[in-house]
Amino acid sequence: MNLQIKSFEEYQDAYKHSVENPEAFWGEIAEHFFWKRKWTNVLNWNFTEPNIKWFEGARVNITENCLDRHIYNNGDKPAIIWEPNDPNEAHRILTYKQLLDKVETFANVLKNNKVVKGDRVCIYLPMVPELVIAVLACARIGAIHSVVFGGFSAQSIADRIGDAECKLVVTSDGGYRAGKVLELKSIVDDALMQCKSVERVIVLTRTRTPVSMIKGRDVWWEDEIKKVETQGNPPCPAEEMDAEDPLFILYTSGSTGKPKGVVHTTGGYMVYTGYTFSNVFQYQPGEVYFCTADIGWITGHSYIVYGPLSQGATSLLFEGTPTYPDAGRLWDIVEKYKVNTLYTAPTAIRSLMAFGDEYIDGKDLSSIKKLGSVGEPINEEAWHWYHDKVGKGEAPIADTWWQTENGGILISPLAGISPTIPGYAMLPLPGVQPCLMDENGQEIEGNDVSGNLCIKFPWPGMLRTTWGDHERCKQTYFSTYENKYFTGDGCYRSPEGYYRITGRVDDVLNVSGHRIGTAEVENAINMHSDVVESAIVGYPHPVKGQGIYAYVIANHHIDEESTRKDILQTITRIIGAIAKPDIIQFVADLPKTRSGKIMRRILRKIAEGETESLGDTSTLQDPTVVESIIKGAEEFR
Ligand code: WT7
Repeated sequence: MNLQIKSFEEYQDAYKHSVENPEAFWGEIAEHFFWKRKWTNVLNWNFTEPNIKWFEGARVNITENCLDRHIYNNGDKPAIIWEPNDPNEAHRILTYKQLLDKVETFANVLKNNKVVKGDRVCIYLPMVPELVIAVLACARIGAIHSVVFGGFSAQSIADRIGDAECKLVVTSDGGYRAGKVLELKSIVDDALMQCKSVERVIVLTRTRTPVSMIKGRDVWWEDEIKKVETQGNPPCPAEEMDAEDPLFILYTSGSTGKPKGVVHTTGGYMVYTGYTFSNVFQYQPGEVYFCTADIGWITGHSYIVYGPLSQGATSLLFEGTPTYPDAGRLWDIVEKYKVNTLYTAPTAIRSLMAFGDEYIDGKDLSSIKKLGSVGEPINEEAWHWYHDKVGKGEAPIADTWWQTENGGILISPLAGISPTIPGYAMLPLPGVQPCLMDENGQEIEGNDVSGNLCIKFPWPGMLRTTWGDHERCKQTYFSTYENKYFTGDGCYRSPEGYYRITGRVDDVLNVSGHRIGTAEVENAINMHSDVVESAIVGYPHPVKGQGIYAYVIANHHIDEESTRKDILQTITRIIGAIAKPDIIQFVADLPKTRSGKIMRRILRKIAEGETESLGDTSTLQDPTVVESIIKGAEEFR
């Protein structure tokens, strides 16, 4: 069986085969990868513990699949094209040969700094090629990477480092983003005051922002590279990993508590990201593929680094933002590198749309053949603008639905092969068995139905556990419905059987495609000394998809304007600027049931401006609270 599906009939056949005989199906797909030793068993699973093992007994290193195996035929082909934040700075191209060389060198740097297989390494870098190099160097020696997005605060980094007990941190002096310099090392320094596990910090030079280098702990990336060079730059053989050895941890927010460390393992993740990349984007040799995500999120892990590189693709890495120096930047990049596939988020599309067509008209986008969307539901207006303006009415759009926990895309059209409908993720990929569940835990059969989206059979890219707390993994994903993985999303299945994701059914927000837990934001707000209690809900936002609405009970004596600013500062400190509420409404009380539970449904309705349809409020302790909140909300309309 070929790895890449070429027609809708082939898709239907593959899907049927994958459901009827999943082990045979994935065994055949896995043959397209390089294994040091083959598996004895394709799949072993139960969703009760859960315990999921793919390609048991196999030995593999993902970097040999992403790098070494392309060297013989495609060593001089660009693996990474890097476009800097400043369009006037020189771009960089790393061929597969060059990337392998740099990965091996940095892998030796890690070894020189006492990193061994199984150690955790925190990576907090801007979107520069060294980020890809650091990630792959960890995988080369079997260290588990934990990449932290550059927008997170020192406190968030400290929490993540502490949870995973990272031994080493890779960061840079600073990072460029639009017109700003982010002081990454200084943020790491603040974080490390709380982290006892970290023995070494490797600091890349990027902005030459002044940094404090602590003797015995901090070293420069460039000096460490020189040391390896004076050692004769020996190769770094790929560590032989078990298929189920952890490859990385990535933290993500849920409806309760602190972010969880989602654990992905080696063999299944490699097969799944490679397979889905090849099929969803129908990658053809020589094409230039551009995913605008940050490597700090799962989309960057799976579809900038591992998926594209395992398929020998040319992956474009962009340091900056779509609106710097102006809202034409993405189109300039498409023109400059003749990008064939663009994979971006609805929030970016909406924001560029809002700047007006003068930034896109006249740009040569004729190279674009395929488009992708990810992260949140795409509204029809954005879908059509993307299709008409960027895709010239021709390029198919793959609306890809998936989650950090999934490792790779689960429901999506295959570009140019499957039918598409605006707002629909359409059909499950081969190997993916979605189902819709009702409130009573029963599966809803048939079409033209809505329910909670679950997956009833494992796929190779799924999470295996949450770091250090397997029980939490079980509780969060495998306990709501018996024997099923619960996604937390609501979903509609059309009369034709096409899937449309309708959004989260739990207390998780999706702000500009970033996942934010309401409990986390509430905890941060409640840390402010003037705050008594708070409640966070989402509301429709024209660009971000969802905005963050905070209802806050404060001490009586506050000055609202300055307390608002202080609260924002507190959240920026505790979580990061990405979690700042768009609206903070001070309230005297919150609507609570007699048992003291906040009725979020009502707060959501008020935030959405739908005060006519509040539903039943008779179970409230004090129904008059609602009236005063509605009145106060008028200010923000
Ligand atoms: C949540 C996962 C891995 C993708 C990046 C976000 C929402 C994601 C879509 C889509 C509608 C989508 C879901 C999901 N979501 N893609 N195409 N259509 N909703 O990953 O941070 O783990 O968030 O994003 O609500 O549960 P994430």
